[in-house]
Amino acid sequence: MSTAPDRAASAELQPLNEAQTGAPQSLVLPHQGPARRRDPRDFHPFLRLNALLADIPPGSSPAPDGKPINLSVGDPQIAPPAYLLEDLTADLGAWGRYPPPRGTNDHAEACVAYLERRYNLPAGWLDPAQHVLPVPGSREGLFFAALALATAGADREPERNAVLLPSPGYHCYMGAAAVAGLAPVFVPATAESNFLPDLAALPAHTLGTSLLAYLCSPSNPQGTALDLEGWRATLHLARACGFALMADECYADVYLDSPPTGALEAAVAEGGSLDGLLVFHSLSKRASAAGLRCGFIAGDPALIERVDACLRIGGAGVPLPIQRAGTRLWRDEALPETSRAYYRDLFARAERILAGRYGYSRPSGGFFLWLDVGDGEAAARKLWAEAGLRVLPGAYMAGPADLPDNAGARYIRVALVYDGETTERALARLVEVLGDGL
Ligand SMILES: Cc1ncc(COP(=O)(O)O)c(C=O)c1O
Repeated sequence: MSTAPDRAASAELQPLNEAQTGAPQSLVLPHQGPARRRDPRDFHPFLRLNALLADIPPGSSPAPDGKPINLSVGDPQIAPPAYLLEDLTADLGAWGRYPPPRGTNDHAEACVAYLERRYNLPAGWLDPAQHVLPVPGSREGLFFAALALATAGADREPERNAVLLPSPGYHCYMGAAAVAGLAPVFVPATAESNFLPDLAALPAHTLGTSLLAYLCSPSNPQGTALDLEGWRATLHLARACGFALMADECYADVYLDSPPTGALEAAVAEGGSLDGLLVFHSLSKRASAAGLRCGFIAGDPALIERVDACLRIGGAGVPLPIQRAGTRLWRDEALPETSRAYYRDLFARAERILAGRYGYSRPSGGFFLWLDVGDGEAAARKLWAEAGLRVLPGAYMAGPADLPDNAGARYIRVALVYDGETTERALARLVEVLGDGL
């Protein structure tokens, strides 16, 4: 259950009023105080979910077949390709060596070839040696990017300590800001803003004191994608205001209809500079290989150098056999097409059950349902207690427990990852238990 806000935290999170900021109240910012390191247990969504459900004893949930279904985590269930095993065992000696931090040439070339194909980029615009850095997953990249920027020493203007992040959004953004001693600014990504954060509507002072912004497309949890204009405007704004743009595109290949535009396409359209831009990609969703821990960052070489330095200190690197496997997976376009067919089928089934309920709409990408059930925490408890369904309250993705006006409070996030039959059974049960919402 939500923990009671302590007084210091509440004072810091109080919204400023309109007269102070010149912004409409709905966009007024909850940070704008000194940055404060926070305890991750206060905002980690799954730790909060464990606490929320802790008093409901396991086994008390009468799941239809006696087995609970965990819909809270987005763990892809599709088996990765068989050749993965070949690549991981082809050279056992390679497991004995530390991986080169900047990665192998083969892997970097495969990453660049993927980006060129996926976003129709000019050949040769990206240089595998300068513009790519392997990371275990996009999570590690996103996290270390904030640390890298926060520790930029003499290059960092001391008053720039804000991190713009979508609310709701992936919890790593807030976690990275908290651990780096930066001040998170929760920018609402709600139905009113087409489920995207409207950075341009932020007060000039906030934009001018921002160090970086995270943006996710297709987004988790809502599955909304930015179009080319949206990316261009955001990149333009970031450069005009002097903050870096972190484009989380780990769901780039999980789309239902047309492939979502990427931030690199905007960089080309804006004249071809990579200044202040990093994009984050991963095989976790593209190849259903979340356990492999293989991703990469691409973009501004100066930022890449900084992230690389931080990863050399505290990161695990990407083992050579995993880079070998990654090289093949980044070149495989049949694999993500199979996954897309799988998710399209799941969304078609979901639509048959949920159309007209809980604000359901077919997303551009990703594999989550973002459902307006009235009270997300109460719904999560009811679904666990009465149906053995574990779902994530939307509030837990939208900020810490003491954030006023939580943008996700009415919602639950439901991962659509299981086979069609299990998914239908779970969603039918969800409707049976929640009816018209709470
Ligand atoms: C929006 C978003 N970004 C990044 C990640 C991290 O994924 P990985 O580190 O496996 O690439 C996730 C994982 O669920 C996510 O949902």
